[in-house]
Amino acid sequence: MLLTRNLDMFDPVDAAVGRQETREGQLEAVAGFIRECVLCPLCRNRRHAVPGEGDACARLMIVGEGPGENEDAQGRPFVGRAGELLDKILESTEFPRPSVFITNIVKCRAADAVDGRMQNRAPMAPEVAACRPYLVRQVEIIQPRVILCLGSPAGKSVIDPGFSITDQRGEWFDGPFGSRIIATFHPAFILRRGGAGSGARDLKKLVWEDMKAIKRYLD
Ligand code: URA
Repeated sequence: MLLTRNLDMFDPVDAAVGRQETREGQLEAVAGFIRECVLCPLCRNRRHAVPGEGDACARLMIVGEGPGENEDAQGRPFVGRAGELLDKILESTEFPRPSVFITNIVKCRAADAVDGRMQNRAPMAPEVAACRPYLVRQVEIIQPRVILCLGSPAGKSVIDPGFSITDQRGEWFDGPFGSRIIATFHPAFILRRGGAGSGARDLKKLVWEDMKAIKRYLD
């Protein structure tokens, strides 16, 4: 199982979490470390780290790839176009956004300067590895019943390095603390597929089916 503790996990975070009595306080303690984090090079270009947000007792935890430009500007997850689509998906499947906890496998924007402009890129393995202890702690604190991975990088990081979003989306996997893990397509992937006749509709239908399966499991 990938979302488990390892010996590299650093004590100051545990100590700070241990001083908090509520889950909200514990999550905020972790967020404080994330905002100050310098464990990987992504900290150099960030405007804001994006620890994640939502219900500290959420039954559903959603894990995306990483902040983009809007998220980096605001310090909040999924607030750009992909976030708007995620909100619509959540609303239409009766998971109000405040009832879930939303975070990412990396908490700082992965981007490189191309012709003087920062362009998003996929986070690299060492960046994901450096950030993993934060995600592990968030899962430990929230203890969600379901962890939903959005897109291939989240699936590979949380479920299995060999995870294939095309072949394995919608499948259930065992997660930590008796939780179940499932992955579906990332809203940004659906948006990139574009308009009518592009297959975006089919993708949306599959995402909707996955969300309904989560709903059935939680009910
Ligand atoms: N895409 C992600 O994976 N995460 C965000 O927070 C925003 C866009």
